[in-house]
Amino acid sequence: MTAELASIIDFIRYGASRFSAAGLTFGHSHDNPIDEATHLVLAGLHLPPDIPPAYGAGKLTAEERGRVLALIERRVAERVPVAYLVGETWFAGLKFKSDRRALVPRSPIAELIENGFSPWLDERHVERALDLCTGSGCIGIAMAEYNPAWQVDIVDISDEALSLARENIAFQHVEGRVEAVKSDLFGALAGRRYDLIVSNPPYVTEDEYAALPGEYAHEPKLGLTSGEDGLDICLRILDQAADYLSGDGLLIVEVGESERALAALLPEVPFVWLEFKVGQMGIFALERRDLVEHAAAIRAAAVARA
Ligand SMILES: C[S@@+](CC[C@H](N)C(=O)[O-])C[C@H]1O[C@@H](n2cnc3c(N)ncnc32)[C@H](O)[C@@H]1O
Repeated sequence: MTAELASIIDFIRYGASRFSAAGLTFGHSHDNPIDEATHLVLAGLHLPPDIPPAYGAGKLTAEERGRVLALIERRVAERVPVAYLVGETWFAGLKFKSDRRALVPRSPIAELIENGFSPWLDERHVERALDLCTGSGCIGIAMAEYNPAWQVDIVDISDEALSLARENIAFQHVEGRVEAVKSDLFGALAGRRYDLIVSNPPYVTEDEYAALPGEYAHEPKLGLTSGEDGLDICLRILDQAADYLSGDGLLIVEVGESERALAALLPEVPFVWLEFKVGQMGIFALERRDLVEHAAAIRAAAVARA
């Protein structure tokens, strides 16, 4: 039956149909089967994502047909995210290596980076920035790419994630401006101060994790879960961040669906929930002075679960 498939467009259409029929989840790089199949087929053929449409009529060789069909079948049968199957994905318009050592980059923080964190950094001078819980390095490396004057530290507790992040530093040629540090949150950063701290930490609750589709089982659990209500790591960040921020420093953290639990736990803290093209995405901004003013309430909430 697949013998009838010949062109790039044929394989993209076939992949999209297979993915839809199989009821796959598209939560990692794309939100629909056609974009997912386009990513898989083009990357599987070592082609860039922005080739002119005319190339869609190009025919695959026998070897390419076998390779692309095998990728489509693995995506369906094993539920492996497409980024892991082809070893690469895109974040903030930049290509990153991606594999099981770290989560597939997908944070809406990409939109903030592309927009220069406007209006948050408009009046602010940034020299040093931190990407805490960096995984593949995508957020910190993209921040460095978009802001050539910034020095960026990227931090993770996982050796596997850091080895991938270091490969991405080299891949994006930002050595010298991005330093990868192994650290349990701020543990190894004594004496360092940042004008901007950005973090997409683990924030999935245990109940949510148990219900996640098969695609997520291929990602390291260390990158996803963070205690009963998903807030263990976030509270540790809130509790310690003021010591690592410069005087008018800014903290931006993603907590996803745990937004409601955080707002209920610390109602007095003036979290600003950021708006994205597709609406609110559970990402807040907080000034250092707000962290200091509410330090006691934050400490009490953090200690209660330590
Ligand atoms: C949700 S993933 C985010 C990865 C990346 N920032 C992104 O947006 O794709 C969270 C990352 O936090 C790391 N992590 C978990 N606990 C940590 C800790 N205590 N200190 C530093 N990193 C931690 C995990 O290894 C994982 O790579």
